[in-house]
Amino acid sequence: MPSALTASQIREAFLKFFEERGHRRVASSSLVPANDPTLLFTNAGMVQFKDVFTGREKRDYSRATTSQKCVRAGGKHNDLDNVGYTARHHTFFEMLGNFSFGDYFKSDAIAYGWEFVTKTLGLDKERLAVTVFNGEGGIPWDEEAFELWAKQGVPRERILKLGYKDNFWAMGDTGPCGPCSEIHYHQGNDIPCAEEAAGKKCQGVACDCDRWLEIWNLVFMQFERKEKDAPLIPLPKPSIDTGAGLERIASVVQGKRSNYETDLFQNILATVSELCGKPYTQEGGASMRVVADHSRAAAFLISDGVQPSNEGRGYVLRRIMRRAIRHGTRLGLDDVFFFKVVDRVIELMGDAYPELRESRTFVLEVCRHEEGSFRQTLNRGLKLIDEELAKLQKTGGKELSGDVVFLLHGTYGFPWDLTQIIAGERGFSVDMKRFEDLLQQEADRNDPFKTSDKAIGELYLKLVEKLGPTEFLGYEGEGHEGEGSIRAIVKNGVEMAEATRGDRVELVLDRTPFYGESGGQVGDTGRIVGHGGKSVAQVKDAQRPVSGLVVHSVEVTEGSFKVGDMVQTGVDNERRKSIRANHSATHLLHKALKLVLGEHVKQAGSVVAPDYLRFDFSHFSAATPEQLEQVEDLVNGWIRDNASAETRVMKLEDAKKSGAVAMFGEKYGETVRVVTVHPESTELCGGTHVRRSGDIGLFKIASESSVASGIRRIVALTGVGALQYVREQEHELRRAAELLKTTPKELSKRVEATQKRVKELERKVEEVSVKAQTAGSKDLLDQARDVNGMKVLATRVDSADDNVLRGMADQLRDRIRSGVVAIGGEKDGRAIILVAATKDVVAKGINAGALVREMAKEVGGKGGGKADMAQAGGPDAAKLPAALDKLYELVKGVGAA
Ligand code: ALA
Repeated sequence: MPSALTASQIREAFLKFFEERGHRRVASSSLVPANDPTLLFTNAGMVQFKDVFTGREKRDYSRATTSQKCVRAGGKHNDLDNVGYTARHHTFFEMLGNFSFGDYFKSDAIAYGWEFVTKTLGLDKERLAVTVFNGEGGIPWDEEAFELWAKQGVPRERILKLGYKDNFWAMGDTGPCGPCSEIHYHQGNDIPCAEEAAGKKCQGVACDCDRWLEIWNLVFMQFERKEKDAPLIPLPKPSIDTGAGLERIASVVQGKRSNYETDLFQNILATVSELCGKPYTQEGGASMRVVADHSRAAAFLISDGVQPSNEGRGYVLRRIMRRAIRHGTRLGLDDVFFFKVVDRVIELMGDAYPELRESRTFVLEVCRHEEGSFRQTLNRGLKLIDEELAKLQKTGGKELSGDVVFLLHGTYGFPWDLTQIIAGERGFSVDMKRFEDLLQQEADRNDPFKTSDKAIGELYLKLVEKLGPTEFLGYEGEGHEGEGSIRAIVKNGVEMAEATRGDRVELVLDRTPFYGESGGQVGDTGRIVGHGGKSVAQVKDAQRPVSGLVVHSVEVTEGSFKVGDMVQTGVDNERRKSIRANHSATHLLHKALKLVLGEHVKQAGSVVAPDYLRFDFSHFSAATPEQLEQVEDLVNGWIRDNASAETRVMKLEDAKKSGAVAMFGEKYGETVRVVTVHPESTELCGGTHVRRSGDIGLFKIASESSVASGIRRIVALTGVGALQYVREQEHELRRAAELLKTTPKELSKRVEATQKRVKELERKVEEVSVKAQTAGSKDLLDQARDVNGMKVLATRVDSADDNVLRGMADQLRDRIRSGVVAIGGEKDGRAIILVAATKDVVAKGINAGALVREMAKEVGGKGGGKADMAQAGGPDAAKLPAALDKLYELVKGVGAA
């Protein structure tokens, strides 16, 4: 028997099959959905085509096929706690799909699906069954699909009618949706079924058990839901969306009962097993499966720009990673290990998803870092639990409060289930109800989908649908002036017909030279003039609230404007020129950082303003001053080359092939602008740029700092701004030099000399003060008492300082010749005591250390030292006289002994 296809071979066979049938092979989109706040992660193949189905976006193809990276964890499909314990649940998976955008419909979709499954994959027809929609909620039953399956030769009794729950697919609360039809594969009735175990009947194809496995979902996209619970409206054209989980298909094709037994997971499991030195077995392997599954999610999410954090997507990733690490510790993996498994994933999947290889260094660093800090967290959390349980024990309590669990969970990132397990092991229960309440309160506060100005967003969507996109005039020539007509006036989210003097409104034009803020570049400012100069509006800002639509925020200062008016538009061109220079410099900076710090440097955000540029990027340590200088030198070199900057408009695919740098999470249209500021730097970018690199003038980094774990920030200046910055530094330098009566060149030498002098003077002042204090010690000596033939003196000084006291004790000892001295003083409310003894009395058994220890007890402190010199301190300065007095008695005791 020929060996079964590997998962990679299945993936390739699928894409090729549909390519041969006129489908465009499109790369998987990022796991972070571009411009889609309704979705936490890309969770299906159709996500990148959402707007194509609804007709909001056009592509130059009407059929596509993909193998899409998907994550279902957190949000609507939350399977995290099951993962590892079942044969099918995953956080990350690959969805194979073929799509028709108003091209073919049910007939071809069904024929293609059946052909691929039965011929290309060669699955046994006898083991296949299909389902169609049975008609519910006003949508008729799908007789057409039923007949089409029958036409393919599927026996009628194996075409089942199922309802809304199984056979209607929607991406989420909103978006395109439709009835669906599935292909199921019969694995065998020996597989356990929970229904049957509960004494009921297995529901066969409709059952949740694995006897019948859904391997193919064909969605007949016909509707769109614009808002949650709103009625369905028909799509412009019926379309096709299919989804086939690669992991399931592989398990069926390879004759396995669990996805984890396919080659997709076996290779990773082998690595886990090697690391912990334990064999993998189905029964005991849950922890290994958790690690294997989660390492895939971590590799893909981090390479798509998600970083572990405490909110939104980052929080889901953090939970996934921490769950894997905890399961690692159960396997005995007590050192940082997770990155090693992730590295294996990158090695295995890097061919199909090259972005993994490109970001490898960074992904691994993030993993190492997160695990390091989580392990510290675990240790701290365990300590806190110990303390809390000890407290409970003392008071006879039996239940750990939900607040403690919440504190551990929130502040220490300590998993609640672990708290529960540990408490349980020691015989305590946990108030989970209170914990869940607190959790809910927190969730309400941080709902990642809450968008306050959603209604306003809807208005702009409607406007762009009604008016079409705004034509941007700013790319050609100087591109700062133009003419256009007013298409809409919006005030506080409501459309108006007219705006008059004093009104602050938003204007939408058919064409504009104003750049609407996007891609980090700030919006332009300037003027809009109408009625031969009688009407004037000051443009304070321009925004792009939805793709394609430029909205001008204006204040009408003269006359009035009506919808339909022709107007002259003029951008503040000096400001625009500075923005251009800063934007082009940002591209050069990006490239220079890659060359100096490494290819792992990825843009993580930017601001391009007229007076500065800010660039955030992934990198783990601070760039050294030398590295920053190298970066400045590279960029300034490219500026001096005065290369002619070019922008080409091309197809996205061609642009990527040409090696242009694209931003993750950024949504690009079918055609993109590829900007080459200098032959060294080519990026996809919609911003405005210089004509020649020399226009940037000068590039100067003003600061480099950290913004988040693994993210650095550079603020830099160009042109006049850079010159001004250098001048300011120069002025400061000159001022400092003048103050020190030298030249800027000699300044550091002078500062060094000055510092030396200050030190010397400090030393002298100290000497003088010791001398001054000890000058009176002659009289003190007269107060010395004779105890058992030794001179003993205990005295107090007022301004105490350790050094001064020690100096005095030293001198007194020298002058007393033979005996013991103690000096006490008070500093910052604390008592200090010094005891010094001459050599001859030490020989007689006097021990300054022992004496001072006893005296320290009086002031509630501790002390110690050598036999001839010792020191003590204590909080109770009021008892200092008693402590000093004690010396005489103590010495008496020694002498008597
Ligand atoms: N979008 C459909 C699914 O995810 C195909 O199942």
